Amino acid sequence: MDHGLKGALSLGGPDDCLAYYRAWAASYDAGFAQGMDYRLPAHVAAAFLGAKGQGPVLDVGAGTGLLAERLRDMGFQGVIDAADFSSEMLERAGEKAIYRALHRVDVTRAIALPRVYQGVVSSGTFTAGHVGPEALSNLLDVALPGAVFALSINLRVWTGAGFDRALQALADQGRIADLHLIEVQVYGAAAAQVDADHASDRAAIAVFRAE
Ligand SMILES: C[S@@+](CC[C@H](N)C(=O)[O-])C[C@H]1O[C@@H](n2cnc3c(N)ncnc32)[C@H](O)[C@@H]1O
Repeated sequence: MDHGLKGALSLGGPDDCLAYYRAWAASYDAGFAQGMDYRLPAHVAAAFLGAKGQGPVLDVGAGTGLLAERLRDMGFQGVIDAADFSSEMLERAGEKAIYRALHRVDVTRAIALPRVYQGVVSSGTFTAGHVGPEALSNLLDVALPGAVFALSINLRVWTGAGFDRALQALADQGRIADLHLIEVQVYGAAAAQVDADHASDRAAIAVFRAE
């Protein structure tokens, strides 16, 4: 399989996804992120800080650590922990020495971490072939009441995967509050030369508080 965005968005399940990122980890930053002018981590970082998010923060599907890097660029000094099920991606993230801890976890299952997080952020993980809305409840289980969430959700899967219904249900159940959506472009202008099919992808950043 060609290691790039097209392959990543057509993954068939968790085993497929793990194998894919094992091979993609080494070239992810210099190949994919730079080549596509990947803006999503910066948008999520800005949304989180705009909502007055604080640490400790859990970065969900942290990958190579691009979102934590953008948080630091924007002046965030709080503790950030990484959560990802790919040890190869976490290894790259660890090299950047930004995270306090690297947790190898599958966020679609109950997460064996204490309920200590004041912030939960994620970029690029809620998308086709990756993680669906079933993870939202697991993430709320490790968040303190009042914790600020800023999670990107690719608009290609927003309705089809049921993110709209899942977030509304959590609001109706009183598990989240103050939900608002910020629509952003995932990539910058350079992406059109690299991958015209995905260059104009958009994501909603779901910003809310845990109740
Ligand atoms: C597109 S990358 C995004 C990485 C980083 N957040 C960024 O914006 O560059 C998606 C990440 O989600 C991770 N991932 C996919 N499914 C997961 C799951 N069920 N549990 C935890 N991590 C998962 C992958 O290993 C990968 O590192």
